[in-house]
Amino acid sequence: MRSLSLEVLGLLPDLTGKRVLEIKTPELADVDGKYDFILVHKGCNILPEIVEKHLTVSGKAAFLLSGTCSVKTNLKPLSVKQLLTPLYQEALPAEFLVIYEKVPRQTAKRFWGTREADLNSMVLKTDGEAYSLVEIPEILSIVDPYIQKRVLELGAGIGRFTGELAKLAENVVCNDFVEKFLDTNKNVHGHLSNITYLCQDVCNLCFKKNSFDFIFSNWLFFYLDDTRAEELLKKMKGWLAPGGVCFIRESCRESRQNPTHLNPSTYREAKEYEDFVKKEFEIIGRGLIRSYPEKNQHFWLFKAK
Ligand SMILES: C[S@@+](CC[C@H](N)C(=O)[O-])C[C@H]1O[C@@H](n2cnc3c(N)ncnc32)[C@H](O)[C@@H]1O
Repeated sequence: MRSLSLEVLGLLPDLTGKRVLEIKTPELADVDGKYDFILVHKGCNILPEIVEKHLTVSGKAAFLLSGTCSVKTNLKPLSVKQLLTPLYQEALPAEFLVIYEKVPRQTAKRFWGTREADLNSMVLKTDGEAYSLVEIPEILSIVDPYIQKRVLELGAGIGRFTGELAKLAENVVCNDFVEKFLDTNKNVHGHLSNITYLCQDVCNLCFKKNSFDFIFSNWLFFYLDDTRAEELLKKMKGWLAPGGVCFIRESCRESRQNPTHLNPSTYREAKEYEDFVKKEFEIIGRGLIRSYPEKNQHFWLFKAK
C-alpha cells in the first residue's frame, strides 16, 4: 500500500493483522486464496464478481474509481468518498474511493418467504392478474394432452395451475416450500378433494418409482443451482411412470446470469436447459410462451428415453 496517497490511506479501515491484496494490473491470474481486504486501483477493470471470489466472508473491498459504481453483485457499498482533486486536474472526472462489504447471496427460501401469497408475487409483476389471464390458458393448451391420471406439480405456489390440473387428473400432489403459499392454494381449492399438499424443499422430495404420469413445473428450475437442478431431473425420471411426460417453463437469458444478494435466480441460456434435460430424457416439445411480453420464456416437454 506504499504507493497510496495519505488521503486514501486515511480512508481505509484498520488493516492491522489482516490479509490484504492490492490489485494494480488487470490480471488476477496468479492470485490464490482469500483476503480480508482487497484494494483495486483505478483502470484495473476487474469485475467485482472476481474480487468477491477472493474475499473472506466478512471481507471488504475498496475500488479507486472515476465516477461512481452501481451494485451488481454480492458486494454492497459501505461508503463512497470523493477524493480531493488537485487544482491542475480539475478538468478530469472526479475520483472516488468506494468501500464494499461482501453480502451473502439471497436464498430462494428467504426470497419467497418474504413475498405475499398473491398473484403479483407469483408472477413478480405488479399486474399478476393480467399476466395470468393470458398465460395460464396458453400453458394449459400446451400441457392439456399430457395431463394424465397421477400428476405431480413442483413449486406450485398459490396454485395458479393446481386447480386446473386437478380438474383433469385423477389426483395431484402439489409441492412448494412456502407454507403460506400452500395455505392459500388449499383455501382456493378446498372444494377439490383430489389434491395432496406437500410443504417441502423440492430437492428433499421422495416418491416411489413410477409414481406419476405427468410432472408439471412452471418457473422452478431457475431457483435451483445447477447441481440441484440436475439431481431433481434425475429423480423426476425415476418418479415418472412408463409413457409419462414432464413439462418445465423457465425464464432464460441470452447469456447466463448467476444469483446475486438481491435476486436468487439463476438465469440460464435455453441451451443449458436443453443439455440438462437431454441427459435424462427425450425432448418431445419445446417453444416460447407467446403471450408473455418478453420473449425469454421457454418451455420443454419431455419423456423418458
Ligand atoms: C415464480 S413462483 C411460481 C409459482 C407457480 N408455479 C406459478 O407459476 O404460479 C416460484 C415458486 O417456486 C417455489 N420454490 C422455489 N424454490 C423451491 C424449492 N426449492 N422447493 C419448493 N418450492 C420452491 C416458490 O416458493 C414459489 O412458489
